[in-house]
Amino acid sequence: MSAGADGSGGPAVAARSGEGSPGEDGFVPSALGTREHWDAVYERELRTFQEYGDTGEIWFGEESMNRLIRWMQKRKIPLDASVLDIGTGNGVFLVELAKFGFSNITGIDYSPSAIQLSGSITEKEGLSNIKLKDLNFSKSCQPPSSALEADLETV
Ligand SMILES: C[S@@+](CC[C@H](N)C(=O)[O-])C[C@H]1O[C@@H](n2cnc3c(N)ncnc32)[C@H](O)[C@@H]1O
Repeated sequence: MSAGADGSGGPAVAARSGEGSPGEDGFVPSALGTREHWDAVYERELRTFQEYGDTGEIWFGEESMNRLIRWMQKRKIPLDASVLDIGTGNGVFLVELAKFGFSNITGIDYSPSAIQLSGSITEKEGLSNIKLKDLNFSKSCQPPSSALEADLETV
């Protein structure tokens, strides 16, 4: 497992190096905003996990996960509260939440390989109650349909 996008380099910086000039909307396009990028990342990470058991990158670093859990603790978020991790990647944050005692947790990601990877990791950890779903948050949240709600009910 490796900690990542903390400003000191790593894959996020590598992905940004492919940036071009600003588009009509004024935003500089980034590979980090494409599903193709994340599919390629998690296909590679899934193979690495299968071959070596390495859980892969924690994009915002372990400290950010711990900070979030401390925040939830301070706010007295009940352990049975439903928690949704959007863009769960390898699902390591869900693993930490489950180890901490949260019992109603779901991870979604639009990369099927990320969902496969997070499923393998949670299975290896013996955490069978974590729900995972291959789902595009942006598309599922388009009004007027509440597809996210409907999809999550089927998780
Ligand atoms: C920077 S990575 C973070 C992964 C993980 N949460 C972590 O901290 O290591 C961003 C994740 O969001 C996912 N993602 C990006 N846009 C998404 C969308 N519209 N719906 C679902 N997942 C999305 C990507 O596939 C990727 O796994």
